[in-house]
Amino acid sequence: MTGRTNFERLDTARLPSPCHVLDLARLEDNLKLLKRVSGESGVEILLALKAFSCFAVADLVSKYLSGTAASGLYEARLGKTRFGGQMHAYAPGLKEADIDEMLIYADHLILNSLGQWRRFREKLVGAPGVHFGLRVNPGHNEVENPLYDPCAPWSRLGVPANELTAADLDGLSGIHIHALCDHPYEAFDRMLAAVEENCGHLFGAIEWINLGGGLLITEEGFPVDTFISRLKEFRERTGLTVYLEPGTAVGLHAGALVSEVLDRTGNVGELAIMDTSATCHMPDVIEAPFTPDVLGAQTLPRDMEAAPGESNIVRLGGPTCLAGDIIGTYRFETPPRVGDRVVFLDLGYYTMVKATTFNGTPLPALALWDSRSDALEVVREFSYADFEGRLS
Ligand SMILES: Cc1ncc(COP(=O)(O)O)c(C=O)c1O
Repeated sequence: MTGRTNFERLDTARLPSPCHVLDLARLEDNLKLLKRVSGESGVEILLALKAFSCFAVADLVSKYLSGTAASGLYEARLGKTRFGGQMHAYAPGLKEADIDEMLIYADHLILNSLGQWRRFREKLVGAPGVHFGLRVNPGHNEVENPLYDPCAPWSRLGVPANELTAADLDGLSGIHIHALCDHPYEAFDRMLAAVEENCGHLFGAIEWINLGGGLLITEEGFPVDTFISRLKEFRERTGLTVYLEPGTAVGLHAGALVSEVLDRTGNVGELAIMDTSATCHMPDVIEAPFTPDVLGAQTLPRDMEAAPGESNIVRLGGPTCLAGDIIGTYRFETPPRVGDRVVFLDLGYYTMVKATTFNGTPLPALALWDSRSDALEVVREFSYADFEGRLS
């Protein structure tokens, strides 16, 4: 997922390494587009904090979006206290001990099962001004990788639509659907048709519907006007308040991870040991798996076994002892030398939120860069204390 990037204009020598850098210009472009979708279609758009929750840009985010969506108590607190606006919380498993605090932050609380709703209903409904909803599995598959398919068989996420009647929703005012992952418009169109078909019998019993995230709204070529018309038509016809909660689309192409080459070695191919790690700083690279693009290099297949004698093909990996801590294999015009900086593109979302310190690997610093003015601010650096503090 390369897309246009401004990062070729960034002087990486101005940064500590490793470092996540957010391009404020690109982030604002994404947010402006989402605001247009919201304004013209009448739907409300929330930032999914699970994907991106760097609150150094909270003011910018809240200028354009209606609020945030959380996956648990801590994100709910972060959304309410750092970002402001509406706070919609969903938890696949709500803990009874967390309910009182959750109700301080959340104005919408979405339960994952009727069992949880019925068990906690009495305690929940006393909370003034909180709207309760149910996660519903619309029974429509668009996601090929089971790791990211909320509608796969045996899914833990939500109640299958065909098992629900309108009467089951007594006391609830909305439903929440999330069935996409990095999809183009056509998948959304099919999903919405399936939602109407499979969940339509519930619409008379609800006031709002949250259609989740997983859509590449801010990717180049996305048919924004068609999307707006579809949303507007659906909203007006059903009379429902409609929410979307994108994460990726907010941060798309707005983040990079800058890293330094610590060592160059080789065996059946050339190797570089970086000061950033796939397993610690970009675990989706291993889980998905996928290979992040590198500025100025060609991304090669992950399953490449060897490249003997190819001095321009270099496999980049992390500084941990995990054998599979491989970021990717790339063809460079000029292979990076020890001390050189390498820019991994599109690593703003699902990266800083997932980072760990396995092997005592330091966390990447966080920096904000405005590609319009070249202003750069390092907003956070991490130290030994951040590693030690979690261990006892
Ligand atoms: C319930 C829910 N909402 C929103 C999102 C955000 O999706 P994305 O970042 O792909 O837009 C996710 C992602 O997993 C999700 O599970």
